[in-house]
This record gives sequence, C-alpha cells and structure tokens, in this order.
Amino acid sequence: MKNKVKRIAIFASGSGSNAEKIIVYFKNRKDVKIEAVYSNRKNAMALKRADNQGVISIQFNKTQFLETLEIIEDLKRKKIDLIVLAGFLLLVPHSFVEAFPNRIVNIHPALLPKYGGKGMYGNHVHKAVSENGDSVTGITVHFVNHEFDKGEIIAQIKCVIVPNETPERIASKVLKVEHLYYPLIIDQVLANINVEEFE
Ligand code: GAR
Repeated sequence: MKNKVKRIAIFASGSGSNAEKIIVYFKNRKDVKIEAVYSNRKNAMALKRADNQGVISIQFNKTQFLETLEIIEDLKRKKIDLIVLAGFLLLVPHSFVEAFPNRIVNIHPALLPKYGGKGMYGNHVHKAVSENGDSVTGITVHFVNHEFDKGEIIAQIKCVIVPNETPERIASKVLKVEHLYYPLIIDQVLANINVEEFE
C-alpha cells in the first residue's frame, strides 16, 4: 500500500516544546499526521500546546498506562505507526514495547550512554554534565526498550560547552539542538518504516 499516511503519537510529561516543534515541522505534510499528544500530567503545558496547534490532547493516569491496555488499544485504533517520546518521564511498560517493536523513539538531552538511566532527566542531566566539567554534550535519539535510555541509538548530535557554562545555559543550548534535529531524525525514522508490516 503506497502513499499511506504515517501516523505519529507524541508522549510528553512537561513543557512540550519538542512536541510543538514536531507538530509544526509536519504541519503541511500530506504523508505524515500527528494524531495526538498524550500526557500523564493533567497540567502539562504539552497538552495546551497541542490544543493550540489543533492536535488532539489526551491525558491519562499512571494506572491506565501501567496496568491496563487502554492506551495501547487507543493507539492501535488510531493506527499509530510511530510513538515519539518528547520529555516523557515514565518508564514505558513491556506491553508497549511488545505492541510497538522498534516503533517507539525517545530523545535524551546528553550523549548516551553517559548521563542516562533512572533519575537522569532534564536539568539533572545538565547539572551532572556541568559538575563533571565536560567540554562536550549533546542529544541522543534512540529506540525505546525495557530499560531507561538503553535502546538502540539512532542518532547523536554533539554540542560544545565553554568553560564554566552553567547548567541552565547548557540546558538551553541542548534544547535548541533538540528542536532543530528531533523532527528531522523522526522524519528519517519514518522514511525507514515499512507501514504495510504494521497494518
Ligand atoms: C528535553 O530536554 C528532553 O530531552 C528531556 O526533557 C526535556 C523536555 O523538554 N528528556 C529527558 O530528560 C528524558 N530522559 P520539552 O518538554 O520542552 O520538550
């Protein structure tokens, strides 16, 4: 089946600035549709950003996510081809990884395997990078498996840290790199997806 629209679901827990960049990037594309933004946090800015962009926003609770198949069934009903985690902070349960093998991608604000794992997210990462006096950091986009930040790496982009740069400054530099590259990398992942295999 050629020319099938590829459907993305974004999962975000916080601000959702990456989610918004992804929505805007694909806005005029006939071959890609952002079906919905999902969040485990009721007040997540990500849900508001989705609403503002005319994308369906869906809030769920931890029990629904971890202990039922409700969300997986919803994603299957929507014929989602790719799940994009963008600042999503819950560990994805086995049921998801099995239902969407190599169909879940995540972005991490450091060069994995450095600064990955449980508790390493957002500013915790940039603080650790700054405290270690690293001269380079960056972003990692990877497939999601059963462990935090351990799935196969798809792409990494580096960015240089100048001496004595604060964690806040590093965070804003890295976020800019994410905004620029995450949509492009997702586009590339979609190009490699065989949609028929997943019908
Ligand atoms: C991003 O920097 C993303 O890499 C990070 O959370 C931020 C979300 O920003 N994710 C992690 O740390 C996951 N381990 P956003 O909500 O503005 O897109």
